[in-house]
This record gives sequence, C-alpha cells and structure tokens, in this order.
Amino acid sequence: MEFASIKGFKDILPGETETWQRLEAAARRVFRPYGFKEIKPPILERTELFSRGIGLDTDIVAKEMYSFPDSKGNGMTLRPEATASVVRAYIQHKLYKLDPVQKLYTIGPMFRHERPQKGRFRQFHQINAEILGDPGPKSDADLIVMVMGLLSTLGLKGLSLQLNSLGCPQCRVQFKKTLNRYLAQKTDALCSDCRRRAETNPLRVFDCKVEACKEVVSEAPSILEFLDEDCRHHFRSLQEYLEDYKVPFILNHRLVRGLDYYNRTTFEIQTERLGSQNAVTGGGRYDGLVKILGGPDQPAIGFAMGIERLVELMEEDQEQESETPDLFVAGLGAKSERKVFNWVNELRQSGIWVDMVYAPKGLKAQMKQADRSGAKKVLIIGDNELEAGKGVLRDMTTKEQKDVPLDNLLETLKKEIG
Ligand code: HAM
Repeated sequence: MEFASIKGFKDILPGETETWQRLEAAARRVFRPYGFKEIKPPILERTELFSRGIGLDTDIVAKEMYSFPDSKGNGMTLRPEATASVVRAYIQHKLYKLDPVQKLYTIGPMFRHERPQKGRFRQFHQINAEILGDPGPKSDADLIVMVMGLLSTLGLKGLSLQLNSLGCPQCRVQFKKTLNRYLAQKTDALCSDCRRRAETNPLRVFDCKVEACKEVVSEAPSILEFLDEDCRHHFRSLQEYLEDYKVPFILNHRLVRGLDYYNRTTFEIQTERLGSQNAVTGGGRYDGLVKILGGPDQPAIGFAMGIERLVELMEEDQEQESETPDLFVAGLGAKSERKVFNWVNELRQSGIWVDMVYAPKGLKAQMKQADRSGAKKVLIIGDNELEAGKGVLRDMTTKEQKDVPLDNLLETLKKEIG
C-alpha cells in the first residue's frame, strides 16, 4: 500500500518553508512594537465552543467542522478558526484581570472540510491577531494599520481593503426586517439553503456562493443605512483615522463575513491574483463574543491572514533563492574523516552551515555532491594533506584553489567564509 497525504491536506516542502518562515518572522517583527504577545491555544477544543461562538447557521459550523466524539462521548472539534479559542483562553485564565486590554497573536493550522481548490485547503494556516478589551474605533484603526503595514513589508501589491460596519444588534433588528422583506420578494431566485437562511439568519444570504443568490444580494438594502448614531459615529471615526494615515479603503456594504460573531467594523483584504479565493485577510469586531462564551462583557476586534494564500503571492512576486551551505568539507582516508567530523561540527556550532558526506566516498563523488548541494566553497583534506599540515580550499564559483594551513583552521575558515 502506498501512502499519500489526504485530499486538502498538503505537505509544505523545503523550498516553500523558507517563504513561510519569512512571512512568520515578518509578522512577529511587525506585531512586536504594537505590543502584541504570542498565545498558543490547542488545536482540539470542545465542539460547543465553535458552535456557540461562530454560529449554528454559518457554513463553518453547519458543514465544515472536523468533529468527533471522544471516548466519553464529548463532542471534539479540530479548530476551524482561532478567535473562539483565544477568547476561551482570555476567559479561562482571566487575562482581563492582568490588563483588560490584551493584544494577542497566534500562528497555526486550522481545519475546515471545504471543497479543495486553488487557495483553499482543508488544513490551512492562519496568522491571527486580536485586541481584546477595547471598544474602538482607535483600536480598529490601529489593527488595520498594523496589518496593512505587514502586507507592505512583504512587498505585496494590488491588494484592496474592503470595509463595512454591521452595526450593533439593535441596528440590525430593523435591517433584518427590511432584508427579510426584500428576500421574501426574491424567494424563487434563491437556493434552498438561502430560502431557509432568509427566515432564520438573513445576513448569511450575503455569504452564499450560488450565482443566482449573489445577484439577489447585489441589489439588497445596505446595512449602512440602518446604523444608529453611535455605530455611525464609530464607523466614521475609524474612516477618519484611516484617511489621516493614508490607508486607502473601499466601502463594501455587502461584506458581512461568514461568522455570526461580528458587529460594527468588518474588513477584508482582497487580491485579484488568486481567482475566487481572493481574501488574504479577514477580520472585524466581535464585541459580544467574550460574554457569549461565559466571560465578562469585553469588546474585541481581530483578523486572520491565510498563510497559504500570502505565500503564493510572495512566491509569484520574487525569484526563489533557496539557501545553500557555506562550506563543504571533503575528507579522504580514515584519519582525515575523523578530523573532518570534529572540524565540521565546531564550525556548525559557531553558526556556519557546513556539509559533508556520511558514507566514505572518493574525491570525485564528494565534489559532485558538493556541487549538487550548492556549497560556495569546498575544503579538501586527505590523509596526505593532514600530514603536510594544509588543506585545499576551492571556490566553487571562480574555481580558484588555494592552500590553507590546518593550524588555526577554524579561525581561517571563519574569515574565508565571512
Ligand atoms: P476567515 O475569513 O474565515 O476569518 O478566515 C481568514 C482568512 O483565512 C481568509 O481570509 C483566508 O485567507 C484564510 N482561509 C480561510 N479558509 C481557508 C481555506 N479553507 N484555505 C486556505 N485559506 C483559508 C476567520 O477565521 C476569523 N477568525 C478572523 C478573525 C479573527 N476575526 C476576528 N478575529
């Protein structure tokens, strides 16, 4: 039997992992001066955390979760997103007692049983950042400026920031009634799921991917017309911060996002380069979630970026140069091989990337391997060289060779390699 990875679950291979590391390192570097700290919640949680947090009517909870009972029959779920877990940890460890405003980020895998396609996987990875304990709008602007800063550090172009406000639950009462009336006139055009959603949770019709439903939604009433005074002011003020900091955005009143916990600010950063899976970042405010999950009444806002999608854009944008060893040391003969083993490891301990063969090989085979490895320089030391007290250092680009004394070899090599 031949094993292969499961559909929608992919190996991230060397060559690709370098771009992942660059992205993650950039995120950590950009988040730090904003005061974000890393949190690492587990990947497995009680199913109810997500069904309550994200909402029963959402595609994620209704269709996409990897859920199973544990040996005691408790419902377990591989997390489909990180926000509910971060909020659970904030409540469980009473992080709000240390300081009600907590800025937390987490990087890791998520699981959703969606139909795999370009830019969409069943195991995918996100960089999440959440600000808990502040009602905004300054924190909303801060978070958006931070994520835009990260994307610009990565040199990504052609991204658009789409912005909306979903108001508060009070604003939505009237909006839902109006939306409901509008959808009732269009029932025949809606898919069967949306006919049900039109009754139970009409905002979810905005997420539907069926063409006919998208058409119905394109003429639907706008939530922005229904914002009350406070929500209108909150949204206006966020826009002013963004305008002042020269962050361009597009107002999109159809941006409701696929999770039930959002209120007020929602946003998405989209690209035109990834086909239909065009969102590289999605986020928004979720002022009710901490309370819904059993914590104090603390507002919050956050976002998640899809690592696979960002990596794809980064790889399109630049020639990939994979890293290669600084030095290859070719030992020839039993005595020399033992010496080489020590030298190689001492150089490695000082941070220099050095390669060597494991099984004994002739010089020709070792030079071939050194060439394949991409090593910049090769040091050749046979038993004869050992005796003579000098090795031969070959520059693999210029092909020049010179003798190097074996006395003080480590210092000499450090200098040669820079
Ligand atoms: P989301 O929009 O479901 O939001 O996901 C955020 C990002 O994760 C998407 O914009 C996309 O880049 C990536 N993503 C989602 N699903 C997949 C998939 N199947 N394959 C590849 N990439 C994917 C959330 O998850 C919210 N928790 C974001 C948030 C944090 N809101 C507040 N705080």
